[in-house]
Amino acid sequence: MVGDQPETADDGRHVVINGRGTFPGVTDTNIDLGRPLQGDVVDLILDDHRRFEALLRDLRDSSSDRDAVRRALATLHTAHAIAEENHVYPRLRGQRAITEHEAEHGEEEHAEGHEAMLAVLELAGTDTQAFDDAVEELARVINHHLTEEELTILNPAREEVGEELRSQLGEEFASERNRQIDGGCGSAEQIRGLVAAARREGLLDEDDGESDGSDD
Ligand SMILES: [Fe+2]
Ligand SMILES: [Fe+2]
Repeated sequence: MVGDQPETADDGRHVVINGRGTFPGVTDTNIDLGRPLQGDVVDLILDDHRRFEALLRDLRDSSSDRDAVRRALATLHTAHAIAEENHVYPRLRGQRAITEHEAEHGEEEHAEGHEAMLAVLELAGTDTQAFDDAVEELARVINHHLTEEELTILNPAREEVGEELRSQLGEEFASERNRQIDGGCGSAEQIRGLVAAARREGLLDEDDGESDGSDD
């Protein structure tokens, strides 16, 4: 331990997910979601992706405070997706780094993530088979999206967008993300609204729930 540097409590109930220092808890769960203010947009997005993975790991762990973890993940996932859709995807399209199809596909996957997240949030208990099943589906959807986004969106951003713009975009992404978190974007009510809007826009398949083998 270094001097009086505050540490996130290691009592097994806090998720230590930010190696660059501690920040005030930004949700009612006290789980640290980080609060970046600037940086290369690619790095900031990747930092959040690693946070998603840490939170998913804790969500699987029956010794975690799974209710706190699901609320933290809902908040971060929602804020991140909105910040990407409002700032990152449009600018990358404007730079011709990604196509309209890639941006729209990213939005479809965000919508699937919101739907799977809502299923986890709406379950009463966190120690049931239904909860485990919902977590498994959420992990599948999120992990698929992270992989695809890193390969088809972040790689072109690295290769085709200059450092200055990536840094400017980093600030825009971070400030929207933090504003969404502060506004309580991860409530079930908010996410229900996002899912309903996505369905109206045709971003979600109508055959809700039952997976039918379609894997795109
Ligand atoms: Fe992302
Ligand atoms: Fe995304």
